[in-house]
Amino acid sequence: MSRRGLFFSFEGIDGSGKSTQARLLAEALKPFWTHVTLTREPGGSPGAEEIRRLLVEGAPNRWSPTTELLLFNAARRDHVERVIRPKIADGHIVITDRFADSTRVYQGASHPEMRRLADELHAEVIGIEPDRTFIIDMDPARALARGLARRSGEDRFEEMGEAFQAKLRDGFRDLAQEYPTRCVVIDGDRPEDVIAGEVLAQVRALI
Ligand code: ADP
Ligand code: TYD
Repeated sequence: MSRRGLFFSFEGIDGSGKSTQARLLAEALKPFWTHVTLTREPGGSPGAEEIRRLLVEGAPNRWSPTTELLLFNAARRDHVERVIRPKIADGHIVITDRFADSTRVYQGASHPEMRRLADELHAEVIGIEPDRTFIIDMDPARALARGLARRSGEDRFEEMGEAFQAKLRDGFRDLAQEYPTRCVVIDGDRPEDVIAGEVLAQVRALI
């Protein structure tokens, strides 16, 4: 018999340790839950990964703010349709490295007038929120040093610099206040295993 799964997201500025924590949570859950799906945005399904390349490569001003918002939502719609909803319905715990809060904060920080449209699009074409969102909070200078050290070639957003990252950090903190029951702020400037232990304790309380 299948039961509904659960949906968790990790959010935060670039280099804060989201991917690390998403992976550690997926590993830590295996003894407790048979099916765990680890995924990411932008991307997470074949179509959305194609759209990802349009979003993360190239010049920072490659797209207009509205076009960029539509591309993030097109990618997310495919990810939700093809992966997130079917897996949750099949009893999986789905863990995503970024979701809609990244759009609210990144696209909202660059262009505040985009926030209203982001919320409207989310309601119309996405329509799902995580059961819990872990916001990994981190000093931008330290996070940026971690992120740029990777030199992945996907630096379209990271190249926007430290002042922008500081604005994003404030954006994520504001979002946590806006959605106090869904979002939890986690101090990311600690050893990986300490952060992972705190996240796992919160997740275990929900399963
Ligand atoms: P994000 O997904 O938020 O961009 P990553 O998980 O890829 O961040 O981590 C960025 C870099 O920082 C990686 O090199 C990773 O190994 C390192 N890292 C992650 N978490 C920690 C931590 N708690 N302490 C020190 N370094 C970390
Ligand atoms: P990601 O691969 O998570 O970058 P990182 O591991 O460096 O944190 O995401 C790529 C970039 O896309 C990142 O700078 C954040 C940005 N982004 C948005 O601007 N809006 C969104 O909705 C999402 C999902 C990501």
